[in-house]
Amino acid sequence: MIIIDSVASLRKQLGDWRMDSVRIVLVPTMGNLHEGHLKLMDEARLHGERVVASIFVNPTQFCEGEDFLGYPRTLEKDTSQLCSRGVDLLFAPSRSELHPQSLLTTVMVPTLSDLLCGEYRPGHFSAVATVVLKLFNMVQPELSVFGEKDFQQLMVIRKMVADLNLPVQIRSVATVREPDGLALSSRNCYLTESERCCAPGLYRALCHAVDSLSKGCSDFGALENQQKKDLRAMGFRPEYFSVRRRSDLEPPHAGDTELVVLAAAWLGSARLIDNKAVSIA
Ligand code: PAF
Repeated sequence: MIIIDSVASLRKQLGDWRMDSVRIVLVPTMGNLHEGHLKLMDEARLHGERVVASIFVNPTQFCEGEDFLGYPRTLEKDTSQLCSRGVDLLFAPSRSELHPQSLLTTVMVPTLSDLLCGEYRPGHFSAVATVVLKLFNMVQPELSVFGEKDFQQLMVIRKMVADLNLPVQIRSVATVREPDGLALSSRNCYLTESERCCAPGLYRALCHAVDSLSKGCSDFGALENQQKKDLRAMGFRPEYFSVRRRSDLEPPHAGDTELVVLAAAWLGSARLIDNKAVSIA
């Protein structure tokens, strides 16, 4: 695996590959890789001859008081995992290489960015969209792969790509879970032993909600409140637990059948997010 930390060397290497007309697939990450990320690499491999992974802990997408400084940086371990998964190139730029000067230009995807997680993390999705667009411009991949655990992020990126006619296809990969249902996340390492035992409760709450919706429950407000109450009883501090339309994450209208239930909740110092799709008759 080639490891590159400068945009100039990245462009040179990709230019060489492009002379052979290979399809390049990009998987952007912030590192501290787990099996969920590695499944993104496997998906990338199915769609191109060259897989590029990026690792960059993007400072601009952390809000004030969030875990930017403490975010786990595990480059050595990440590198060997990517290597063993057959990734061709790791792009791991420094902060000054990726953001050499403070950004005046940013991408905004309003509305979609302002609800759910956006309400609690102002500016987060704009910063994500901006860094992803920068990475797309640096790598110019034919296709890029993202995880469905960050469902709102995936939608923001898809919307940016559609609105700006970016020449990149977006593919998503289903959330990878522990055997007890907990979604894999780089932040699970913040959980203490007892919090780790409690953590699958978030996914169980989503499953309960999906079950109720499938059985015809249409009082979404009551369902959301009950699940938040149950989460509190388990020790979570829920931010939101919400039934939304899958197409645009707006509250469903009568007759909408393609829904998704999304939740964010704190457990100790870990902010966990998860979601589960449901189709109702
Ligand atoms: O999902 C992530 O790891 C990050 O938000 C991303 C897409 C790499 C942008 O920094």
